[in-house]
Amino acid sequence: MSSEEIRKSFLKFFQENGHAAVPSSSLLPDDPSVLLTTAGMQQFKKYFTGELDSEKDFGSKNTCSIQKCFRTSDIEETGDKTHLTFFEMLGNFSFGGYLKKEAIHFAYEYLTGVLGINRERITVTVFSGEGSVPYDQEAYDIWHKEIGIPADKISKHGRSDNFWGPTGNEGPCGPTTEIYVDGVEVWNLVFNMYYQKSDPSAGSGQAKLELLKTPGVDTGMGFERLVVMLQGVESVYDSDIFADLIKKINEVAPELKEREVRIFADHLRSSIFLIADGVRPSNKEAGYILRRLLRRILAYQVIYDVHADLFPIAHEFVKEKFGKIYPEVKDSKIMEVMIAEKSKFERAIANGISAVKKYEKISAAEAFSIYETFGLPFELVQELAPEKVAGVSREDFQKEFKKHQEISRAGAEKKFGGHGLLLDTGELKAKDEVELKKVTRLHTATHLLQAALRRVLGNEVSQKGSDITAERTRFDFAFSRKLTTDEVQKVEDMVNDIVEKDLPMNCVKMDKDEAKQTGALFFFKEKYPDEVNVYFAGHSLDEAFSKEFCGGPHVTHTAEVGKFKILKDEAVGAGTRRIRATVR
Ligand code: ALA
Repeated sequence: MSSEEIRKSFLKFFQENGHAAVPSSSLLPDDPSVLLTTAGMQQFKKYFTGELDSEKDFGSKNTCSIQKCFRTSDIEETGDKTHLTFFEMLGNFSFGGYLKKEAIHFAYEYLTGVLGINRERITVTVFSGEGSVPYDQEAYDIWHKEIGIPADKISKHGRSDNFWGPTGNEGPCGPTTEIYVDGVEVWNLVFNMYYQKSDPSAGSGQAKLELLKTPGVDTGMGFERLVVMLQGVESVYDSDIFADLIKKINEVAPELKEREVRIFADHLRSSIFLIADGVRPSNKEAGYILRRLLRRILAYQVIYDVHADLFPIAHEFVKEKFGKIYPEVKDSKIMEVMIAEKSKFERAIANGISAVKKYEKISAAEAFSIYETFGLPFELVQELAPEKVAGVSREDFQKEFKKHQEISRAGAEKKFGGHGLLLDTGELKAKDEVELKKVTRLHTATHLLQAALRRVLGNEVSQKGSDITAERTRFDFAFSRKLTTDEVQKVEDMVNDIVEKDLPMNCVKMDKDEAKQTGALFFFKEKYPDEVNVYFAGHSLDEAFSKEFCGGPHVTHTAEVGKFKILKDEAVGAGTRRIRATVR
């Protein structure tokens, strides 16, 4: 069966069994608790909690989907036979329609009846019981008594293996039963019974389980893994999902080793899917992940001397192979974004090379700092200055990387579960996640406000101070007279126009003097380090609507700011005006 036929057979089977087929949601979720979509159930969370009604929206209590997913945890593993960053997940769901019995029978019937997998190859696991959640006798009995899986092919496991829920934040969760074929896990059936609540009184990492309003079923089967098994190939790169791209890469770069070819193939496909869903390279969140993927490809091209232009080759392939199912990958903007990142990277490499020259010897921590600052991957430093990093292994570098990841993860946990003031930069303050979102929107609005003021009133306008709370932004600036009603309106309209245009909010690290030359605004009162972050609203620094030296945080796209409203314009001393504004 071709991968296309497998996708079709899955949806057809579940549609024939009373499920509404729902298209994949975007890789960029509207759920703020996750960076990127990692599972099929994410778009359905509100049907489990009872906030939305599946029958009303889809005409059925049961749905099925093929969901685009991205897991950052697998970036470093990519290149082996199994790990992918982007993948598709097949899933069937029920929100109060059916529970364990039907879910298990459907899965078994699809695997053995539709796909023809011999039942001898199947083993399963069920939840053994742990903490307040009891042993899943019911699932065991369905497998053993109804389906006839022998007892020695059913194993029981605790929470770490057979319980699924959101990591680090709130959401539906429950015990699972997993199906293995030839010892390889293919399908995870989750019986969503509970809602996991982060419980501040229990300390971080502890979660409280409440019974769910609409208990149901959430299943996930890795599409690529299934295809590998059914096509009897050794890895996903040998399956029809990747075969054509692998062939092309081997043609244009015959000297590349298998691991690098796979990394190229995976990262190129993932980047295209991320860009198609609106992610843009930047230095934070999803944008940072995309940047890492693209820069890894570009760096590998330098290291391995690959001169062919892989971006258009990969884009042609993805359009051809996936364009029918995911038409968004056909967008011509995708190439523009990749090309723009390529030229930025070329500049970064030039800066990185001069940085490397300044060192006598480079430690693991320094190599990581060079990577962080210039985007120059470790392999590239090794290539450029082998004698300077002679004592540092890839593992040493990896350790530094992990340390950094742990710090950011701790940051994220604090962001979601912690107490106290989350953010206090002097300019912005937030005490919880909700406030943080609000002040972040107001912060971007403040940048847009300054840019609009300068356009309407001229360059006499310059920042004197600012203070942002969850309610409003307060911006003080040098200007000699009261604004007319008309001017206030113009400024407000201009900001709202930029919000509507949904420009990306980007950030680049630059040498301070170089940054000043770009015309980016900075605050005279502040002392800046030699290297600064320049945040800009727009597709490129040259054409940006606003650019400022800044430490962030900002929204990723201006539409997130929401409707902007000026509340008040007043004088605070001679030659200084103060504007208060809010966002809705
Ligand atoms: N949500 C479950 C998973 O991702 C099915 O494994």
